[in-house]
Amino acid sequence: MKNIAVFASGSGTNFEALAQACEAGALKGVARIVLMVCDKPGAAVIARAERFGVESFVFSPKSYGSKSEFEGVISDMMDERGVDLVCLAGYMRIVGDTLLSRYEGKIINIHPSLLPSFKGAHAVEDAVEYGVKVFGITIHWVNAALDGGKIIAQRSFDYEGSDAAEVHRLGQVIEHQLYVDTVLKLLTGAVK
Ligand code: GAR
Repeated sequence: MKNIAVFASGSGTNFEALAQACEAGALKGVARIVLMVCDKPGAAVIARAERFGVESFVFSPKSYGSKSEFEGVISDMMDERGVDLVCLAGYMRIVGDTLLSRYEGKIINIHPSLLPSFKGAHAVEDAVEYGVKVFGITIHWVNAALDGGKIIAQRSFDYEGSDAAEVHRLGQVIEHQLYVDTVLKLLTGAVK
């Protein structure tokens, strides 16, 4: 059984997709979520974690002296729980040196664009604004470059229009499936 940590800042639908898969889906018997890390007290993902009985570490970055300080606390918690894989799922914060020095090679992220196009926090809005007709989702390794690590998996979908909310909705359906499939492949060695 592999131990996963999921980091999120918002709604947590990707957290929920992973938690469901661990409980009764494709990841059952393969992985369990041992920690949910959230940097936004009050985010909806916290209630989702409670519903699945997943331990949460919710923190306010402002109450620490530096990023290195809170990343050190998180890394210690992950060491204690024997975390094998860290899944960033809408964690809207750049991972710093402290976490990377201890977990690089074990951290993946899901991003709502076909990287390397449309990096950053407003990928869908930027893609709609640009007028693209093919959108997509990317899962990649996390390194020091923003949304710049090696790509593990991608899916595209066609959409002609300018409704960013609709693109988010279409993309999230793909995200939930792709995240579970990719985590399964990584943890079972089907993808390196
Ligand atoms: C997801 O769509 C994810 O791709 C995006 O945040 C959303 C979180 O949704 N991540 C980024 O934009 C990272 N740059 P969720 O909280 O419902 O899982």
